[in-house]
Amino acid sequence: MDYENFIDEQIAHIKQTVGEAKAINALSGGVDSSLVTVLGHRALGDQLRTVFVDNALMRKGEPQQVVEIFASLGIAVELVDAKNEFLSALAGLTDPEEKRQAVTDTFYSKVFSRLVKESDAKYLLHGTILTDIEETVDGIKRQHNILTQLGIDTEKEYGYSVLEPLKTLRKDDVREVAKLLGLPAEISQRIPFPGPALATRIIGEVTLDRLETVRAATSIVEEELADSGAFQYLAVLLNDRATGIRNKKREFGQIIVVRCIESTDARTATVTKLPWDKLNRVSERITRIKGVNRCLYDLTPKPPATIEYI
Ligand code: XMP
Repeated sequence: MDYENFIDEQIAHIKQTVGEAKAINALSGGVDSSLVTVLGHRALGDQLRTVFVDNALMRKGEPQQVVEIFASLGIAVELVDAKNEFLSALAGLTDPEEKRQAVTDTFYSKVFSRLVKESDAKYLLHGTILTDIEETVDGIKRQHNILTQLGIDTEKEYGYSVLEPLKTLRKDDVREVAKLLGLPAEISQRIPFPGPALATRIIGEVTLDRLETVRAATSIVEEELADSGAFQYLAVLLNDRATGIRNKKREFGQIIVVRCIESTDARTATVTKLPWDKLNRVSERITRIKGVNRCLYDLTPKPPATIEYI
């Protein structure tokens, strides 16, 4: 694929389609939505409003980091604080699918649809890639029809259109184009991170305290395993407790699982043979997190396990 040509064509297409109208897109910091943001701003400049929704489920410092990276590229990103909306939608939920659904619904049906309606945007730019379309057709993923997810009736509100400039690209292509357009390696080479974010890394109820625990463990795992060359690495907070000893006192503490895997497309995965010293260091640091007294390394490939825990 001629990437330079792809960039020129997409910029011209977005410019021509949108004309003098306004457009909006949601940036998550993932490579797909980041690339759409850069292409969109090259084509439309200030006519494109880019929002980053803080859902309380991101990694430590992530919303601010994403805003800063784009500021350094000359692109203004509006940080929308929706933390309370997501936390209250998740309160009391323990079922994995209900938790996922709550995050999706809060994003599309509440927060993003409100932002779309409030703005004068006639176009939505969306980072759908070829694999998303294939998986939707294969029935692996729930449908990616963003207008339906936004609760927008295309018949009645015909003014809205969705542009999907990446729909002919696969992940490798997305990373190459992102690099060509000057996105830093921390975006173009970012390890996969799921849409429902840290909600997929907590078994049981998602609360502020439990988020703080898994966020701290995630920072340690990402720091320690950055040089592992693995496809993906993550930390999960279990819903069980285990007895331990701290400061000579019995403690019924929390349990963190560390997962580190090799894969090419996330459809299957094997476990990384991490050096023992590395595992020890991770375990020592994780069990220093308040209330956590066990750290486990997951030895299960996919299948039969999945990569995430919910
Ligand atoms: P599983 O857990 O199904 O994950 O083996 C496969 C890959 O997909 C990522 N993942 C998601 N990505 N939204 C996403 O954008 C999601 O809801 C989601 N769930 C899982 C996961 O991190 C892994 O790379």
